[in-house]
Amino acid sequence: MSAGERFYITTPIYYVNDSPHIGHAYTTLACDAFARFARLDGKKVWFLTGTDEHGQKVEKAAQAAGKDPQTFTDEVSQRFRRLADAMGFSHDDFIRTTEKRHYRAVQHLWNVLVEKGEIYLGKYAGWYSVRDEAFFDESEITDGKAPTGAPVEWVEEPSYFFRLSAWQDRLLQFYETNPDFILPPSRRNEVISFVKSNLRDLSVSRTTFKWGVPVPNDPDHVMYVWLDALTNYLTAVGYPDDTEAWRTFWPADVHVVGKDILRFHAIYWPAFLMAADLPPPRRVFAHGWWTNEGQKISKSVGNVIDPLQLIETFGLDQTRYFLLREVPFGADGDYSRAAMIRRMNADLANDYGNLGLRVLSFIQKNAGAAVPARGVLTAADHELLDAAAGLVARVRADMDVQAPHKALESIFAVIADANRWIDTQAPWTLRKTDPDRMNTVLWVLVETIRRIAILTQAFMPTASTKVLDQLAVPAERRLLVHVTDPGAALVPGTKLPKPEGVFPKWQEPA
Ligand code: MSP
Repeated sequence: MSAGERFYITTPIYYVNDSPHIGHAYTTLACDAFARFARLDGKKVWFLTGTDEHGQKVEKAAQAAGKDPQTFTDEVSQRFRRLADAMGFSHDDFIRTTEKRHYRAVQHLWNVLVEKGEIYLGKYAGWYSVRDEAFFDESEITDGKAPTGAPVEWVEEPSYFFRLSAWQDRLLQFYETNPDFILPPSRRNEVISFVKSNLRDLSVSRTTFKWGVPVPNDPDHVMYVWLDALTNYLTAVGYPDDTEAWRTFWPADVHVVGKDILRFHAIYWPAFLMAADLPPPRRVFAHGWWTNEGQKISKSVGNVIDPLQLIETFGLDQTRYFLLREVPFGADGDYSRAAMIRRMNADLANDYGNLGLRVLSFIQKNAGAAVPARGVLTAADHELLDAAAGLVARVRADMDVQAPHKALESIFAVIADANRWIDTQAPWTLRKTDPDRMNTVLWVLVETIRRIAILTQAFMPTASTKVLDQLAVPAERRLLVHVTDPGAALVPGTKLPKPEGVFPKWQEPA
């Protein structure tokens, strides 16, 4: 998160050719965690998601469904909204590329590029993959397939071109001066070698179908869906008007994308923007792909993972935790039911859930159902409290480089410390031998849990809210600044409600 009090984060906008699957849920979930974290950190956040509704792929899907594209996209777009609601996403805007505001933005951008001499009329003859909505060079085709494995077709049509080849050196220069523009670093090298080897002018309009934004002053052409789609990131913050949102939020801090669509975001997009004299985004982060029980996910195999099903089976926070913790963000990863249940039981029920439940139940029974009186703190007390306080800086550093798995690892290390600490301090023994010390031990524990729960709000919002409620933490004291603010520490004597478990153990259905 490069400097500043504002944070603009985006997901890719999803094609409405199909129902949402795990890939869609995953990207938006990660963005949701980053957005929530930035808000907890006091930043002004704009979190954008939405649907990509034009192009040949969507047009074909509409035809196959026997619907006109507008009716079809209206319906499918709703499914993505429902997924966003079910996953508890905290997006500030949901954009659809069929909206008027978007037509205006993308046609404006087109005109600017034309005025600057960056777009010219020519003829395209080459390969196109409808599945990828991408043009491929002859050298990239093997056995009639694109490098992605998608079938390609030969296309010959009049087309406008963007002078991408002219941007090669300036792109390389841009990557050089902005070493964190593409993360993770392995992906950056991939992009740089592509740019060094292979930049041709890019076809940016099509004439053989109609479902797209019309090219201004040439109604035979619709815009190439990627030029249309990428521009959504500008539309949503007010482009082309000089609005407050525009001044506040552009350039975006990070576009989170899957590795398959990095080329569009890390090459075409900054080139379009620089050509239009607009600042490029600060970062593009490419995450990996999920497999299912070791197998590539595909509709024909029938092993598509339905995120709604995961939530229903394992719970929302459990699903969120699993997806963010199991696999380093940026790497490919495997979903397995056994791994999901392991995370749910070991990390959530036994470690985090049990910590809260043990401490709060003990307080209900043995310490007057209120925040215990705090005596003089020992070195061991400070050690645990400091470990929890130290999480703020560590987690922030991890989130700054889109490493939610590391952030969670650090948080759960302190949860494990706290569980061990209960055993070494043994409050159940102190109850008889030294009740004052028992109270202090319990205070240190609830205060540690408070600090942890503030941090986990970004990842598991529902459960974390319940934990903070059980600690009677006022709603306006749940930001990162309150983790270490002495004035926000738990006040002895504050009544505590009856605790409830927030992370149930997995029960095999009968
Ligand atoms: N419409 C374009 C994006 C335009 S952004 C200006 C698009 N849409 S998509 O619906 O195909 O998006 C898919 C997103 O889901 C991509 O980020 C892709 O990487 C991700 N995933 C699709 N399958 C996936 C997995 N199996 N695992 C993880 N993510 C995957 O591309």
